[in-house]
Amino acid sequence: MLNIIIFGPPGAGKGTQSEHIKEKYNLTYISTGQVLRAEMAAGTEIGLKVKDIIDHGGLASDEIVTEIIEKFIVNHSDSNGFLFDGFPRTVKQAEILEDLFKKYNLKLNGVVSLEVPEELLIERMLERGKTSGRADDNIESIHYRFVEYDNKTKPVLDFYQHKNCLHPINGVGTIEEIFDNICETIDSIHNS
Ligand code: AP5
Ligand code: MG
Repeated sequence: MLNIIIFGPPGAGKGTQSEHIKEKYNLTYISTGQVLRAEMAAGTEIGLKVKDIIDHGGLASDEIVTEIIEKFIVNHSDSNGFLFDGFPRTVKQAEILEDLFKKYNLKLNGVVSLEVPEELLIERMLERGKTSGRADDNIESIHYRFVEYDNKTKPVLDFYQHKNCLHPINGVGTIEEIFDNICETIDSIHNS
């Protein structure tokens, strides 16, 4: 079994690379951002609760997100391994994920962390915003997503660094080049 977290700031390429990773390693994939956007689109109770916050670039509550993750793990108990995108995003979420892994007898193999300079991230998201329909792909929300990232999400890097499972990857380059580097890392984690 292989359990991987793909980590990185807004626009780093987590979703793009996940498409390839889940295919190659046959992993069960969850993006909390995607799940929350689906909840908003469907107008569910969760969707209504988080819509305003997410549209402005803020983070949803740890309670809502960890409940989504636990349900997902339980519903995919026959999985060959999980790929988490956009989760955990706070130290609290990372601690809860550790508890969930213990509870369901899972082991985290590694955290793949995509590193991309902020100017390039902004460029990518503004470009995507022209067609994505994502309400948070505008310059004001993007700025606030970075504030949230710096204050709440960056500390998660230290959390995993202390556990010796953080693997930084250069997130600048072609999608293929970055994917090759990710695979090299995952293969080395998997075989160690
Ligand atoms: P989420 O959906 O996770 O958004 P994000 O982290 O802001 O990141 P993005 O999805 O925008 O970027 P990405 O890293 O996936 O990059 P992508 O591959 O798309 O979360 C959205 C919101 O939901 C959060 O702000 C928060 O409110 C809420 N939320 C989610 N999870 C939460 C949690 N755990 N707790 C609390 N709240 C939570 O690429 C970006 C663009 O660049 C694309 O257009 C792509 O085509 C392009 N691109 C990708 N790679 C390359 C490349 N190598 N070269 C050129 N272009 C590239
Ligand atoms: Mg994404």
